[in-house]
Amino acid sequence: MTDKKNADVCIVGGAGHVGLPMALSFANAGSRVQIYDINEKTLATIASGTMPFVDDGAEAYLRHALDNDLLTLTADPADITPTGALVITIGTPVDEFLNPSHSAVKSSIDALIPHITDAHLIVLRSTLYPGTTEWLHRYLQECGKKTRISFCPERSVQGRAIKELSELPQIISGTSDAAVAEAMTFFAPVVPEMIEMAPLEAEFVKLFDNSYRYIEFAIANQFYMLADQAGADYSKIHFGMTHRYERAKHMPRPGYTAGPCLFKDTMQIAAFARNQFSLGHSAMLVNEGLVLYMIEKIAAEHDLANITVGLLGMAFKANSDDMRASLSYKMKKHLMMRAKAVLTSDPYVQEDPNLLPLDEVVEKSDVLILCTPHADYRDLDVKGKPVFDVWNHVVRPTPTEVIKGSA
Ligand SMILES: NC(=O)c1ccc[n+]([C@@H]2O[C@H](COP(=O)([O-])OP(=O)(O)OC[C@H]3O[C@@H](n4cnc5c(N)ncnc54)[C@H](O)[C@@H]3O)[C@@H](O)[C@H]2O)c1
Repeated sequence: MTDKKNADVCIVGGAGHVGLPMALSFANAGSRVQIYDINEKTLATIASGTMPFVDDGAEAYLRHALDNDLLTLTADPADITPTGALVITIGTPVDEFLNPSHSAVKSSIDALIPHITDAHLIVLRSTLYPGTTEWLHRYLQECGKKTRISFCPERSVQGRAIKELSELPQIISGTSDAAVAEAMTFFAPVVPEMIEMAPLEAEFVKLFDNSYRYIEFAIANQFYMLADQAGADYSKIHFGMTHRYERAKHMPRPGYTAGPCLFKDTMQIAAFARNQFSLGHSAMLVNEGLVLYMIEKIAAEHDLANITVGLLGMAFKANSDDMRASLSYKMKKHLMMRAKAVLTSDPYVQEDPNLLPLDEVVEKSDVLILCTPHADYRDLDVKGKPVFDVWNHVVRPTPTEVIKGSA
């Protein structure tokens, strides 16, 4: 596709974790896709045929898109294709006071306004603070734009966005019937099923989905800390609670609950609820507090000031290279104030210059903390070092031993 302006869809923020898998999925379905992103370095990586992060199946899709001339990349908003879908996938953070950062959304939109035409369908794909879709509708109308606006949230799990786009029902909303109809036509080739609702309802779906998960993990983490503090083996308790007991079978195990979405989306609801979302705030205290609990647990058994602590896994979740909002870094920050030294390792993370080879961290550390349950650590030889492993990934329980009697 030599003419940059000749695409069926332009993905704004298309070099990111949401935008790029979506761009590749549409290209794979035969659409001509344009990526517009301000990160020129990542655009160059993509243009060279290399994925800038891990997403299941993405490398082959990227090769297919480039080989078949279905993908163009630009950092210049003046290149934005003047018709078709304009999909917005930029980050929507909370600020340092845990309020939604409206200015981040508005300034990104302001930069796009000169290039938005009445022939565009705007598809908001980022997670949005409730009311943002209707706000954008009013704002663009004030700017004299008649563009149709839809909000169709991304709900996939990090690292499986391509796969899940074709598996998950797509929530569709719009500020007019025409916007809804166009959004449905746009998504039909790549999603299995669509659910229509009002923009505010769709905004809540995405935020409630993430908050629900965040609170679920907090329940597991709270139970773990309660039981562990009382000297009980939580892995046995969890097994007892869930084994052939349907009503509790989805109870998660404890672990460091982090990443770029769950925390900040829970805080978006808290801000929307005028800081009266006590369940969400409690979940935040529990999930963030688990790190500090583990440090106190280690301090109770070891003279922290005189030992080197090794952290295994700096990505926010297993088998991922994504270190955004990872609790491993909170662990590191606190330990650096208490321990003699802190060494870190991760087989996937690329962007942290302080990482050391795994063998070296195991060798030089007096105590290890399993921060991220990467598959690579499953059969790790820890050379007899004590491992603090809330995940039970390296230090594995044998719960079947507690089953007595016949099946
Ligand atoms: N990562 C996920 O798994 C996931 C899942 C569901 C929803 N979300 C939501 O999707 C949104 C994006 O998340 P992400 O993880 O893809 O973020 P990201 O940081 O990986 O990607 C955002 C991209 O937008 C680009 N960008 C930023 N400002 C821009 C601008 N003004 N113009 C053009 N490009 C710009 C960045 O360079 C980056 O490439 C957030 O609202 C997030 O909450 C993320």
